[in-house]
Amino acid sequence: MPTSELNEFSRRSRWASGQPIGALMARALANPNLISLAAGFVDPETLPIELVQLATQALLSSPASARASLQYGTTHGSLKLRRLLKQRLESRDRQTLQINDDQLVLTAGSNELLHLTCDALCDEGDIILSAAPTYLVFLGVMDSIGAVAQGVESDDEGICPDALDRALTRLESDGDLGKVRGVYLVSYFDNPGGRMAGQTRREKLWDVTARWSERMGRPLILLEDAAYRDLRFEGPDVPSLLQFDPTASRTVYLGTFSKSFSPGIRVGWGLLPHELSAAVIDLKTNTDFGSPHFSQQLIAHVLEQEWDIPHTERLCAGYRRKRDAMLAALERHFADQPGVAWRVPAGGLYVWLTLPAEMETGLGSPLWEHALSEGVIYVPGEFCHPAHGTPKSRHGMRLSYGVTTVEQIDAGIAMLARAVAQVGST
Ligand SMILES: Cc1ncc(COP(=O)(O)O)c(C=O)c1O
Repeated sequence: MPTSELNEFSRRSRWASGQPIGALMARALANPNLISLAAGFVDPETLPIELVQLATQALLSSPASARASLQYGTTHGSLKLRRLLKQRLESRDRQTLQINDDQLVLTAGSNELLHLTCDALCDEGDIILSAAPTYLVFLGVMDSIGAVAQGVESDDEGICPDALDRALTRLESDGDLGKVRGVYLVSYFDNPGGRMAGQTRREKLWDVTARWSERMGRPLILLEDAAYRDLRFEGPDVPSLLQFDPTASRTVYLGTFSKSFSPGIRVGWGLLPHELSAAVIDLKTNTDFGSPHFSQQLIAHVLEQEWDIPHTERLCAGYRRKRDAMLAALERHFADQPGVAWRVPAGGLYVWLTLPAEMETGLGSPLWEHALSEGVIYVPGEFCHPAHGTPKSRHGMRLSYGVTTVEQIDAGIAMLARAVAQVGST
């Protein structure tokens, strides 16, 4: 199609184009022999085939239940599932939530809800602050709505409260405070860094944002993405940010069954402030007026039967083994390479690796090309860095142990180490 015709598409379509994830996936798919330490997919061996068969049989066991599951649902999604999710969250956070059913929304994966929420919050040019690095799809979401993801200095627990305070002070002195709509954080074993925000970190983040909410005269929304909360290998679970906000007056909590059950079923969910949930529902009504009802009924059945509990335990045991395999491989193959460091994640699917500052990891860099010819790919860290706020770090990478076997993990890390050594020696 000639460029002139392409230019007739909307600005939003142009903002949405050119996301790096597409190029990365195309590379991986073009060569099935590559070992992909890039994909954030779940382990195919752990997919709950039998549980889905059993749940499907149960849903289809009587005409009444089959008809109910195969019909459209509501825009908010199955009330039964929403109430089950509320109960589960209350027991995990050990508190009673004072919310109404309308504040709970079900979507086709939590990514959809992240998109709808950012869309409801932000006009063009508005800002959401996040850790740097952060979930790369969040960056794409913000681009696609013409809004700005601004990175804030982060450490082993994610976004630093003092740095957040400084960033807000700077925005105020630049006259941009009015554009700030929220703060996004992946608070449990984050993508890409495997970082976990502990209790004290949560308290401080809550306090800083509470102070700024007062100063701004409106709630500074905290978007807590808990996609990996269930994939915990060690340490206690820490209550979500809703511990400070049982009415969800300025907290958005996002959950998903993609990582802990099946991304093919694709059920995501969230709890939002009352007015924000109404705005999200308005947007969703105009998109699909409800996500697949059958998937929601299926997940509701699994939760009612509590089949997910032993399943999650098996998953965590499997991923812990693979995490350990990756850490052991890193020790084995990188021990004598100076300037290489990695973080040990206590859950989730990712290890963040940093190389010496001069060794860039981006697409087309010498390291990327050497890694490709060795037969391994990773996610270049710069893809996970917001374009604004903190400087882009170009010498990190995200490694995933999700889809690969223990043998592939070891082989992939050995290939990567050879690629690093080759680049280092030139
Ligand atoms: C941090 C984070 N949030 C949300 C998601 C969305 O998952 P889904 O849309 O499948 O629920 C992912 C998926 O990789 C993720 O890593």
